[in-house]
Amino acid sequence: MSKQFVAIVTGANKGIGLGCIRTLARRAPSSYLNKRVKAKSSVIYLASRDAERGRAALRDVSAAKGVDVQLAVLDVTSGESIEKFAEHVRERHGGIHALINNAGTAEGVGGRTALFDSDTVDWVFKVNYDGVHAMTDAFLPLMHPQGRIVNVSSGMTYTASPELRERLLKVGSVREADAYMEEFKSAVRDGTAGKLGYPAQVYASSKILLNALTKGFAAENKAAHPNLLINYINPGWVRTDMGGAGAPLTPEQGADTACWAAVEDISGRSGVGFSNRAEIEW
Ligand SMILES: NC(=O)c1ccc[n+]([C@@H]2O[C@H](COP(=O)([O-])OP(=O)(O)OC[C@H]3O[C@@H](n4cnc5c(N)ncnc54)[C@H](OP(=O)(O)O)[C@@H]3O)[C@@H](O)[C@H]2O)c1
Repeated sequence: MSKQFVAIVTGANKGIGLGCIRTLARRAPSSYLNKRVKAKSSVIYLASRDAERGRAALRDVSAAKGVDVQLAVLDVTSGESIEKFAEHVRERHGGIHALINNAGTAEGVGGRTALFDSDTVDWVFKVNYDGVHAMTDAFLPLMHPQGRIVNVSSGMTYTASPELRERLLKVGSVREADAYMEEFKSAVRDGTAGKLGYPAQVYASSKILLNALTKGFAAENKAAHPNLLINYINPGWVRTDMGGAGAPLTPEQGADTACWAAVEDISGRSGVGFSNRAEIEW
C-alpha cells in the first residue's frame, strides 16, 4: 500500500457528502489516522453518480497542502460501476484508509412518492442498504488494517420498537442482518411490518436495517482485523435537498461526526453508532 492516505465519500456531489469532502480536504493531513499510518499526502475521492454534477461540486472545494481531491464516477446501485472504481483504487493505491458510505435516498423528497409498499422498498433499499452492502463488500479487501468505514444512518432509527431494537443490537453477522432485511421485505408484502416493530416508513426502516448491517460487518471483522473500525453515525437534521430548508445544521456541521469517525481517535470502537461525536445506544 502506498504512503498516500486514501479516502472515499459516496454521494459527495452535494449535501452532507460534499460537506464531508470539504472537511476531509481541510482536516485530513493533520488527522489522527493520517499520523498513525504515516501518510505523506492524501487523496480524497469525491464520488458522484453523475460526472457533470461531480465536476461542478469539485470546482467548489479547496484543499489543504498535500491533499488531492479527485472525482470518481460511482453509482452505488451498479455492481459494474463499483467494481470498476475498486479496480482503479487497487491499481492506483493498493488500498484505502477511510470509506464514508453517505449516498442515500428517501421516499417523499424530490417529488418521489411516500408509499409504504414493496416498490418503494425496492428503490430505497437499493441505495440505502444494498448500495452500502456492495460498497463494503468491494472495499473491505482493500482496507488498511487500521482503516475506517462509516455508514451515514439517521436519527429516525429511533422509530424502531424497543423490542426490534433489542433484537437488532445483537446482530453478529452480515448474514443475520440480511435475514432481517428479507424478513422486513416479506412483511411489507404481507402488511405485517408494523407487527415486527418497524415504522410505516421505508426510509426509516432502511436506516434501521443499515445499523444492523453495520453491526454485522463489524462483528465479522473484529477477530481478523481488530483495528479496522466499522460504525454508523446520525448526522442530525441537516439543510440539504433531503433534509429541507428548515433544518438547523449546515452540510458541514452534518458532516462533522462522519469525518470524526472516519479519521480521528475514536478509542478503537467498532460496531457502534455516534451522534455529535458521542456514542449512542442505537
Ligand atoms: N439531511 C438530513 O437531515 C439527514 C438526516 C439523517 C441522515 N441523512 C443521510 O445523510 C446522507 C446524505 O443525505 P443528504 O441530506 O446530503 O441528501 P442529498 O443532498 O439528497 O444527497 C444525497 C446524495 O446521495 C447521492 N445518491 C443517491 N443515489 C445514489 C446512487 N445510486 N449512487 C450514488 N450516489 C447516490 C445523490 O446523488 P444525486 O445528486 O446524483 O442524486 C446525492 O449526492 C443520506 O444517507 C441520508 O439518508 C440525512
